[in-house]
Amino acid sequence: MIILHPMNELHNTRSIALSILADILIKNHSRDESLKRYLSTEKHLSEQDRAFIFNIVMNTLRYKEVFDEITEKILNRPIQHINKDILLAIDIALAQTLTLDNIPLYASVFETIEGYKESKNRNSRSIGFLNYALRRITQNSSIDELFAQYQNQNRLIQKLQNHLCDELSEKEIIGIYKTSFQRPRTAIRINNKVIDTNDALKELHNNGISARSSEIVANAIILETDTPFARLYEILPAEGFTFQSELSQLAAYLLSLKKGYSLLDVCSGNQIKVGQIKELFPEDLEITSIDIKKNHRPIGRYIQADARNIRLDMQFDRILLDAPCSGLGTLAYNPEIKFRINRESIIRHSKIQYQILSNIGKYTKQGGRLLYSVCTITGSETEKNIMKFLEENREFEIINPVMNSSILRQYLTQEGFLRIFDYNNNSFFYALLERR
Ligand SMILES: C[S@@+](CC[C@H](N)C(=O)[O-])C[C@H]1O[C@@H](n2cnc3c(N)ncnc32)[C@H](O)[C@@H]1O
Repeated sequence: MIILHPMNELHNTRSIALSILADILIKNHSRDESLKRYLSTEKHLSEQDRAFIFNIVMNTLRYKEVFDEITEKILNRPIQHINKDILLAIDIALAQTLTLDNIPLYASVFETIEGYKESKNRNSRSIGFLNYALRRITQNSSIDELFAQYQNQNRLIQKLQNHLCDELSEKEIIGIYKTSFQRPRTAIRINNKVIDTNDALKELHNNGISARSSEIVANAIILETDTPFARLYEILPAEGFTFQSELSQLAAYLLSLKKGYSLLDVCSGNQIKVGQIKELFPEDLEITSIDIKKNHRPIGRYIQADARNIRLDMQFDRILLDAPCSGLGTLAYNPEIKFRINRESIIRHSKIQYQILSNIGKYTKQGGRLLYSVCTITGSETEKNIMKFLEENREFEIINPVMNSSILRQYLTQEGFLRIFDYNNNSFFYALLERR
Protein backbone atom coordinates (compact mmCIF):
# COMPACT_ATOMS: atom_id res chain seq x y z
CA MET A 1 0.00 0.00 0.00
CA ILE A 2 2.79 2.44 0.84
CA ILE A 3 5.55 3.74 -1.45
CA LEU A 4 8.80 3.02 0.31
CA HIS A 5 11.23 5.90 0.54
CA PRO A 6 14.84 5.42 -0.44
CA MET A 7 16.32 3.53 2.55
CA ASN A 8 12.84 1.96 2.96
CA GLU A 9 11.85 4.58 5.50
CA LEU A 10 8.43 6.07 6.02
CA HIS A 11 8.81 9.42 7.68
CA ASN A 12 5.40 10.17 9.03
CA THR A 13 4.26 8.18 12.07
CA ARG A 14 0.68 8.16 10.71
CA SER A 15 1.81 6.62 7.43
CA ILE A 16 3.56 3.85 9.36
CA ALA A 17 0.39 3.28 11.40
CA LEU A 18 -1.58 3.17 8.13
CA SER A 19 0.72 0.54 6.65
CA ILE A 20 0.54 -1.61 9.77
CA LEU A 21 -3.25 -1.39 9.89
CA ALA A 22 -3.57 -2.20 6.17
CA ASP A 23 -1.46 -5.33 6.74
CA ILE A 24 -3.64 -6.41 9.66
CA LEU A 25 -7.09 -5.46 8.41
CA ILE A 26 -6.83 -5.70 4.62
CA LYS A 27 -4.18 -8.42 4.19
CA ASN A 28 -5.17 -10.32 7.36
CA HIS A 29 -1.59 -10.48 8.67
CA SER A 30 -0.83 -11.11 12.33
CA ARG A 31 -0.88 -7.95 14.44
CA ASP A 32 2.27 -8.73 16.41
CA GLU A 33 4.27 -9.55 13.30
CA SER A 34 3.06 -6.45 11.41
CA LEU A 35 3.94 -4.19 14.34
CA LYS A 36 7.31 -5.85 14.77
CA ARG A 37 8.13 -5.68 11.05
CA TYR A 38 7.55 -1.93 10.73
CA LEU A 39 8.80 -0.88 14.14
CA SER A 40 12.07 -2.77 13.67
CA THR A 41 12.76 -1.55 10.09
CA GLU A 42 11.96 2.12 10.78
CA LYS A 43 15.20 2.77 12.64
CA HIS A 44 14.77 6.55 12.84
CA LEU A 45 11.78 6.29 15.20
CA SER A 46 12.17 7.52 18.78
CA GLU A 47 10.70 5.55 21.71
CA GLN A 48 7.96 8.17 21.86
CA ASP A 49 7.13 7.67 18.15
CA ARG A 50 6.96 3.91 18.64
CA ALA A 51 4.61 4.26 21.59
CA PHE A 52 2.47 6.69 19.57
CA ILE A 53 2.23 4.32 16.58
CA PHE A 54 1.42 1.40 18.88
CA ASN A 55 -1.37 3.39 20.54
CA ILE A 56 -2.88 4.57 17.24
CA VAL A 57 -2.83 1.02 15.86
CA MET A 58 -4.36 -0.50 18.98
CA ASN A 59 -7.05 2.16 19.39
CA THR A 60 -8.01 1.95 15.73
CA LEU A 61 -8.41 -1.81 16.13
CA ARG A 62 -10.43 -1.29 19.31
CA TYR A 63 -12.92 1.11 17.73
CA LYS A 64 -12.77 0.65 13.96
CA GLU A 65 -16.38 -0.45 13.54
CA VAL A 66 -17.50 2.51 15.71
CA PHE A 67 -15.43 4.96 13.63
CA ASP A 68 -16.83 3.47 10.42
CA GLU A 69 -20.41 4.01 11.58
CA ILE A 70 -19.59 7.62 12.51
CA THR A 71 -18.03 8.19 9.07
CA GLU A 72 -21.01 6.67 7.28
CA LYS A 73 -23.44 8.76 9.27
CA ILE A 74 -21.68 12.12 8.92
CA LEU A 75 -20.70 11.72 5.27
CA ASN A 76 -24.07 10.14 4.51
CA ARG A 77 -22.34 7.57 2.30
CA PRO A 78 -22.07 3.77 2.75
CA ILE A 79 -18.55 2.84 3.84
CA GLN A 80 -18.41 0.24 1.05
CA HIS A 81 -18.30 3.22 -1.32
CA ILE A 82 -15.19 4.60 0.34
CA ASN A 83 -11.79 3.28 -0.69
CA LYS A 84 -10.35 1.02 2.06
CA ASP A 85 -7.10 2.97 2.41
CA ILE A 86 -8.95 6.28 2.73
CA LEU A 87 -11.31 4.73 5.27
CA LEU A 88 -8.30 3.58 7.31
CA ALA A 89 -6.85 7.10 7.17
CA ILE A 90 -10.17 8.46 8.49
CA ASP A 91 -10.12 5.79 11.22
CA ILE A 92 -6.68 6.76 12.44
CA ALA A 93 -7.61 10.45 12.50
CA LEU A 94 -10.66 9.53 14.61
CA ALA A 95 -8.50 7.34 16.88
CA GLN A 96 -6.32 10.38 17.56
CA THR A 97 -9.23 12.77 18.01
CA LEU A 98 -11.48 10.57 20.12
CA THR A 99 -9.17 8.26 22.04
CA LEU A 100 -5.74 9.83 22.48
CA ASP A 101 -5.13 12.75 24.82
CA ASN A 102 -3.08 15.80 24.01
CA ILE A 103 -3.38 15.74 20.23
CA PRO A 104 -4.94 18.96 18.97
CA LEU A 105 -7.60 18.40 16.33
CA TYR A 106 -5.74 20.35 13.62
CA ALA A 107 -2.65 18.21 14.22
CA SER A 108 -4.45 14.91 13.90
CA VAL A 109 -6.14 16.03 10.66
CA PHE A 110 -3.06 17.67 9.13
CA GLU A 111 -0.63 14.89 10.07
CA THR A 112 -3.00 12.16 8.90
CA ILE A 113 -3.28 13.80 5.49
CA GLU A 114 0.51 14.15 5.35
CA GLY A 115 0.79 10.47 6.26
CA TYR A 116 -1.71 9.45 3.59
CA LYS A 117 0.32 11.40 1.01
CA GLU A 118 3.06 8.78 1.42
CA SER A 119 0.70 6.01 0.34
CA LYS A 120 1.09 4.30 -3.02
CA ASN A 121 -2.56 4.55 -3.98
CA ARG A 122 -2.94 8.24 -3.32
CA ASN A 123 -3.64 10.75 -6.07
CA SER A 124 -4.78 14.34 -5.95
CA ARG A 125 -8.45 13.28 -6.00
CA SER A 126 -8.15 10.86 -3.11
CA ILE A 127 -6.13 13.36 -1.07
CA GLY A 128 -8.81 15.97 -1.79
CA PHE A 129 -11.55 13.58 -0.67
CA LEU A 130 -9.70 12.70 2.55
CA ASN A 131 -9.21 16.38 3.30
CA TYR A 132 -12.92 17.07 2.78
CA ALA A 133 -14.04 13.98 4.76
CA LEU A 134 -11.80 14.69 7.75
CA ARG A 135 -12.83 18.29 8.06
CA ARG A 136 -16.51 17.39 7.83
CA ILE A 137 -16.28 14.55 10.33
CA THR A 138 -14.05 16.12 12.95
CA GLN A 139 -15.91 19.43 12.91
CA ASN A 140 -19.30 17.77 13.39
CA SER A 141 -20.75 18.89 16.74
CA SER A 142 -22.33 15.52 17.57
CA ILE A 143 -19.19 13.43 17.11
CA ASP A 144 -18.77 12.61 20.84
CA GLU A 145 -22.41 11.64 21.12
CA LEU A 146 -22.13 9.37 18.06
CA PHE A 147 -18.96 7.82 19.49
CA ALA A 148 -20.84 6.83 22.65
CA GLN A 149 -23.96 5.70 20.78
CA TYR A 150 -22.21 3.42 18.26
CA GLN A 151 -20.26 1.64 20.99
CA ASN A 152 -23.58 0.17 22.05
CA GLN A 153 -25.14 -0.33 18.67
CA ASN A 154 -23.34 -1.13 15.44
CA ARG A 155 -23.31 -3.65 12.61
CA LEU A 156 -20.44 -5.67 14.10
CA ILE A 157 -22.42 -6.32 17.30
CA GLN A 158 -25.31 -7.60 15.19
CA LYS A 159 -22.97 -9.80 13.15
CA LEU A 160 -21.39 -11.25 16.31
CA GLN A 161 -24.83 -11.93 17.73
CA ASN A 162 -25.79 -13.83 14.58
CA HIS A 163 -22.59 -15.85 14.51
CA LEU A 164 -22.33 -16.59 18.22
CA CYS A 165 -25.96 -17.04 19.29
CA ASP A 166 -25.53 -20.85 19.61
CA GLU A 167 -22.26 -20.45 21.48
CA LEU A 168 -22.77 -17.77 24.13
CA SER A 169 -25.62 -15.97 25.88
CA GLU A 170 -26.53 -12.49 24.61
CA LYS A 171 -25.06 -10.96 27.77
CA GLU A 172 -21.79 -12.80 27.21
CA ILE A 173 -21.57 -11.75 23.55
CA ILE A 174 -21.98 -8.08 24.50
CA GLY A 175 -19.68 -8.43 27.53
CA ILE A 176 -16.92 -10.07 25.50
CA TYR A 177 -17.37 -7.60 22.63
CA LYS A 178 -17.01 -4.66 25.03
CA THR A 179 -13.72 -5.98 26.41
CA SER A 180 -12.25 -5.10 22.99
CA PHE A 181 -12.54 -1.42 24.03
CA GLN A 182 -10.48 -1.97 27.18
CA ARG A 183 -6.77 -1.51 27.56
CA PRO A 184 -5.75 -4.59 29.51
CA ARG A 185 -3.63 -4.20 32.61
CA THR A 186 -0.22 -5.74 32.09
CA ALA A 187 0.31 -8.84 34.23
CA ILE A 188 3.71 -10.33 34.96
CA ARG A 189 4.68 -13.46 36.81
CA ILE A 190 7.60 -13.24 39.16
CA ASN A 191 10.30 -15.88 39.30
CA ASN A 192 10.96 -16.17 43.02
CA LYS A 193 14.30 -17.88 42.37
CA VAL A 194 15.49 -14.50 41.11
CA ILE A 195 13.44 -11.93 43.05
CA ASP A 196 10.87 -12.10 45.82
CA THR A 197 7.39 -10.91 44.77
CA ASN A 198 7.22 -8.31 47.58
CA ASP A 199 10.66 -6.98 46.65
CA ALA A 200 9.55 -6.71 43.02
CA LEU A 201 6.46 -4.77 44.14
CA LYS A 202 8.64 -2.45 46.23
CA GLU A 203 11.00 -1.84 43.29
CA LEU A 204 8.05 -0.94 41.07
CA HIS A 205 6.58 1.43 43.67
CA ASN A 206 9.97 3.05 44.27
CA ASN A 207 10.07 3.79 40.55
CA GLY A 208 6.66 5.43 40.56
CA ILE A 209 4.75 2.48 39.09
CA SER A 210 1.54 1.55 40.80
CA ALA A 211 1.26 -2.24 40.98
CA ARG A 212 -0.48 -4.86 43.11
CA SER A 213 -0.42 -8.59 43.76
CA SER A 214 -2.95 -10.71 41.90
CA GLU A 215 -5.99 -11.75 43.94
CA ILE A 216 -6.22 -15.13 42.23
CA VAL A 217 -2.75 -16.43 41.53
CA ALA A 218 0.48 -16.50 43.53
CA ASN A 219 3.51 -14.53 42.35
CA ALA A 220 1.60 -12.53 39.76
CA ILE A 221 1.76 -8.74 39.72
CA ILE A 222 -0.71 -6.46 37.97
CA LEU A 223 0.56 -3.08 36.79
CA GLU A 224 -1.95 -0.32 37.40
CA THR A 225 0.21 2.28 35.64
CA ASP A 226 0.71 1.95 31.87
CA THR A 227 4.38 1.12 31.65
CA PRO A 228 6.48 0.65 28.51
CA PHE A 229 7.95 -2.85 28.55
CA ALA A 230 11.46 -1.43 28.13
CA ARG A 231 11.03 0.52 31.38
CA LEU A 232 10.20 -2.69 33.27
CA TYR A 233 13.46 -4.23 32.11
CA GLU A 234 15.26 -1.24 33.63
CA ILE A 235 13.58 -1.81 36.99
CA LEU A 236 13.40 -5.59 37.40
CA PRO A 237 15.99 -8.23 36.53
CA ALA A 238 15.16 -9.71 33.09
CA GLU A 239 15.25 -13.27 34.43
CA GLY A 240 12.95 -12.29 37.29
CA PHE A 241 9.71 -11.70 35.38
CA THR A 242 7.68 -12.82 32.35
CA PHE A 243 4.64 -11.26 30.73
CA GLN A 244 1.72 -13.64 31.22
CA SER A 245 -1.95 -12.97 31.86
CA GLU A 246 -3.34 -13.87 35.28
CA LEU A 247 -5.78 -16.46 33.92
CA SER A 248 -3.11 -18.18 31.88
CA GLN A 249 -0.93 -18.47 35.01
CA LEU A 250 -3.56 -20.66 36.67
CA ALA A 251 -2.70 -23.75 34.58
CA ALA A 252 0.52 -24.42 36.50
CA TYR A 253 -1.45 -24.63 39.78
CA LEU A 254 -4.52 -26.51 38.50
CA LEU A 255 -2.31 -29.40 37.42
CA SER A 256 -1.34 -30.12 41.09
CA LEU A 257 2.12 -31.23 40.07
CA LYS A 258 4.41 -33.24 42.34
CA LYS A 259 8.10 -34.05 42.42
CA GLY A 260 9.04 -36.79 39.95
CA TYR A 261 5.95 -36.47 37.76
CA SER A 262 6.15 -36.81 33.99
CA LEU A 263 4.41 -33.92 32.22
CA LEU A 264 3.33 -33.73 28.58
CA ASP A 265 2.85 -30.16 27.38
CA VAL A 266 0.73 -30.32 24.22
CA CYS A 267 0.50 -27.27 21.94
CA SER A 268 3.42 -25.81 23.81
CA GLY A 269 3.82 -22.73 21.56
CA ASN A 270 6.30 -20.33 23.13
CA GLN A 271 6.30 -22.50 26.26
CA ILE A 272 5.06 -19.65 28.43
CA LYS A 273 3.02 -22.01 30.63
CA VAL A 274 5.64 -24.71 30.85
CA GLY A 275 8.24 -22.01 31.50
CA GLN A 276 6.26 -21.06 34.59
CA ILE A 277 6.02 -24.72 35.63
CA LYS A 278 9.78 -25.07 35.22
CA GLU A 279 10.29 -22.06 37.50
CA LEU A 280 8.08 -23.64 40.16
CA PHE A 281 9.64 -27.13 39.86
CA PRO A 282 13.18 -26.50 38.59
CA GLU A 283 14.66 -30.02 38.52
CA ASP A 284 11.84 -32.25 39.60
CA LEU A 285 9.71 -32.89 36.52
CA GLU A 286 10.28 -34.83 33.36
CA ILE A 287 8.90 -32.48 30.71
CA THR A 288 8.02 -33.30 27.09
CA SER A 289 6.52 -30.64 24.82
CA ILE A 290 4.78 -30.99 21.46
CA ASP A 291 3.90 -28.29 18.98
CA ILE A 292 3.35 -28.20 15.24
CA LYS A 293 5.87 -25.34 15.03
CA LYS A 294 9.63 -25.44 15.38
CA ASN A 295 11.18 -24.34 18.67
CA HIS A 296 14.86 -23.47 18.50
CA ARG A 297 15.52 -23.27 22.24
CA PRO A 298 13.01 -25.56 23.92
CA ILE A 299 12.60 -26.30 27.59
CA GLY A 300 12.90 -30.09 28.12
CA ARG A 301 12.36 -32.72 25.43
CA TYR A 302 10.67 -31.19 22.39
CA ILE A 303 8.78 -32.90 19.58
CA GLN A 304 7.70 -30.94 16.52
CA ALA A 305 4.59 -32.79 15.36
CA ASP A 306 0.89 -32.61 14.67
CA ALA A 307 -0.76 -33.52 17.98
CA ARG A 308 -3.86 -34.78 16.12
CA ASN A 309 -2.04 -37.90 15.05
CA ILE A 310 1.30 -38.16 16.85
CA ARG A 311 2.12 -41.59 18.34
CA LEU A 312 4.03 -41.66 21.63
CA ASP A 313 5.73 -44.56 23.42
CA MET A 314 4.84 -43.63 27.01
CA GLN A 315 2.05 -42.33 29.23
CA PHE A 316 2.23 -39.30 31.52
CA ASP A 317 1.20 -38.36 35.06
CA ARG A 318 -0.01 -34.99 33.85
CA ILE A 319 -0.95 -33.60 30.44
CA LEU A 320 -1.49 -29.93 29.72
CA LEU A 321 -3.40 -29.42 26.48
CA ASP A 322 -3.36 -25.70 25.73
CA ALA A 323 -5.30 -25.98 22.50
CA PRO A 324 -5.37 -23.52 19.59
CA CYS A 325 -8.66 -21.62 19.81
CA SER A 326 -10.70 -18.67 18.55
CA GLY A 327 -9.15 -16.49 21.28
CA LEU A 328 -12.47 -14.76 21.89
CA GLY A 329 -11.64 -14.37 25.59
CA THR A 330 -8.64 -12.20 24.74
CA LEU A 331 -10.28 -9.30 22.84
CA ALA A 332 -8.79 -6.76 25.26
CA TYR A 333 -5.31 -7.94 24.18
CA ASN A 334 -6.22 -8.83 20.58
CA PRO A 335 -9.12 -6.59 19.47
CA GLU A 336 -8.61 -7.50 15.79
CA ILE A 337 -10.06 -10.96 16.54
CA LYS A 338 -13.55 -9.42 16.60
CA PHE A 339 -13.33 -8.71 12.85
CA ARG A 340 -12.19 -12.25 12.04
CA ILE A 341 -14.51 -14.30 14.20
CA ASN A 342 -17.38 -16.20 12.62
CA ARG A 343 -19.26 -19.43 13.15
CA GLU A 344 -17.03 -21.34 10.69
CA SER A 345 -13.80 -20.38 12.45
CA ILE A 346 -15.21 -21.53 15.79
CA ILE A 347 -16.29 -24.88 14.36
CA ARG A 348 -12.93 -25.29 12.62
CA HIS A 349 -11.10 -24.72 15.91
CA SER A 350 -13.41 -26.98 17.85
CA LYS A 351 -12.75 -29.86 15.41
CA ILE A 352 -8.98 -29.48 15.70
CA GLN A 353 -9.25 -29.28 19.51
CA TYR A 354 -11.33 -32.44 19.59
CA GLN A 355 -8.96 -34.34 17.31
CA ILE A 356 -5.99 -33.37 19.50
CA LEU A 357 -7.85 -34.20 22.71
CA SER A 358 -8.97 -37.64 21.57
CA ASN A 359 -5.51 -38.55 20.28
CA ILE A 360 -3.59 -37.19 23.27
CA GLY A 361 -6.01 -38.49 25.94
CA LYS A 362 -4.71 -42.03 25.58
CA TYR A 363 -1.28 -40.96 26.83
CA THR A 364 -2.67 -40.15 30.27
CA LYS A 365 -1.54 -42.71 32.89
CA GLN A 366 -4.17 -44.49 34.93
CA GLY A 367 -4.80 -42.13 37.86
CA GLY A 368 -3.17 -39.35 35.83
CA ARG A 369 -4.78 -36.04 34.87
CA LEU A 370 -5.29 -34.01 31.72
CA LEU A 371 -5.89 -30.26 31.90
CA TYR A 372 -7.66 -28.85 28.81
CA SER A 373 -7.31 -25.10 28.46
CA VAL A 374 -8.54 -22.52 25.93
CA CYS A 375 -8.73 -18.72 26.05
CA THR A 376 -12.34 -18.67 24.89
CA ILE A 377 -15.65 -19.76 26.34
CA THR A 378 -17.70 -20.63 23.23
CA GLY A 379 -19.68 -23.83 23.84
CA SER A 380 -18.23 -25.71 20.84
CA GLU A 381 -14.65 -25.11 21.95
CA THR A 382 -15.27 -25.94 25.61
CA GLU A 383 -18.09 -27.98 27.24
CA LYS A 384 -19.27 -29.65 24.02
CA ASN A 385 -15.79 -30.94 23.20
CA ILE A 386 -15.24 -32.26 26.72
CA MET A 387 -18.66 -33.91 26.97
CA LYS A 388 -18.16 -35.65 23.63
CA PHE A 389 -14.71 -36.83 24.76
CA LEU A 390 -16.14 -38.19 28.03
CA GLU A 391 -18.85 -40.07 26.16
CA GLU A 392 -16.26 -41.78 23.99
CA ASN A 393 -13.70 -42.27 26.77
CA ARG A 394 -15.65 -43.60 29.75
CA GLU A 395 -12.49 -44.14 31.80
CA PHE A 396 -12.15 -40.35 32.22
CA GLU A 397 -14.06 -38.18 34.68
CA ILE A 398 -14.19 -34.47 35.49
CA ILE A 399 -12.29 -33.46 38.64
CA ASN A 400 -13.08 -30.30 40.59
CA PRO A 401 -9.81 -28.39 40.62
CA VAL A 402 -8.45 -27.46 44.06
CA MET A 403 -8.50 -23.68 44.36
CA ASN A 404 -7.72 -21.47 47.33
CA SER A 405 -9.27 -18.41 45.75
CA SER A 406 -12.92 -17.74 46.59
CA ILE A 407 -13.04 -15.43 43.55
CA LEU A 408 -12.20 -18.34 41.27
CA ARG A 409 -14.61 -20.73 42.95
CA GLN A 410 -17.45 -18.51 41.72
CA TYR A 411 -16.58 -19.52 38.17
CA LEU A 412 -16.81 -23.26 38.81
CA THR A 413 -19.75 -24.69 36.84
CA GLN A 414 -22.05 -27.45 38.09
CA GLU A 415 -20.20 -29.93 35.90
CA GLY A 416 -16.87 -28.94 37.51
CA PHE A 417 -15.46 -26.77 34.71
CA LEU A 418 -13.66 -23.54 35.44
CA ARG A 419 -15.43 -21.23 33.00
CA ILE A 420 -14.16 -17.73 33.67
CA PHE A 421 -16.22 -15.02 31.97
CA ASP A 422 -14.79 -11.51 31.92
CA TYR A 423 -12.41 -11.50 34.89
CA ASN A 424 -10.45 -8.24 34.45
CA ASN A 425 -11.54 -8.21 30.79
CA ASN A 426 -10.28 -11.72 30.11
CA SER A 427 -12.19 -15.01 29.66
CA PHE A 428 -10.80 -18.53 29.88
CA PHE A 429 -11.90 -22.16 30.17
CA TYR A 430 -10.24 -25.05 32.01
CA ALA A 431 -11.43 -28.65 32.31
CA LEU A 432 -9.50 -31.02 34.56
CA LEU A 433 -9.99 -34.71 33.69
CA GLU A 434 -8.71 -37.78 35.52
CA ARG A 435 -8.22 -41.25 34.04
CA ARG A 436 -9.67 -43.88 36.40
C1 LIG B 1 -2.70 -21.31 22.68
S1 LIG B 1 -1.24 -21.59 21.80
C2 LIG B 1 -0.27 -22.36 23.03
C3 LIG B 1 0.46 -21.45 23.97
C4 LIG B 1 1.49 -22.18 24.79
N1 LIG B 1 0.96 -23.29 25.52
C5 LIG B 1 2.27 -21.30 25.72
O1 LIG B 1 2.11 -21.43 26.95
O2 LIG B 1 3.06 -20.48 25.24
C6 LIG B 1 -1.68 -22.91 20.74
C7 LIG B 1 -0.53 -23.62 20.05
O3 LIG B 1 -1.07 -24.76 19.35
C8 LIG B 1 -0.21 -25.05 18.29
N2 LIG B 1 -0.91 -25.96 17.37
C9 LIG B 1 -1.94 -25.67 16.54
N3 LIG B 1 -2.36 -26.78 15.90
C10 LIG B 1 -1.58 -27.81 16.35
C11 LIG B 1 -1.52 -29.20 16.07
N4 LIG B 1 -2.36 -29.77 15.20
N5 LIG B 1 -0.57 -29.94 16.70
C12 LIG B 1 0.29 -29.37 17.57
N6 LIG B 1 0.27 -28.04 17.88
C13 LIG B 1 -0.64 -27.28 17.28
C14 LIG B 1 0.13 -23.69 17.73
O4 LIG B 1 1.33 -23.75 17.00
C15 LIG B 1 0.24 -22.83 19.01
O5 LIG B 1 1.57 -22.74 19.41
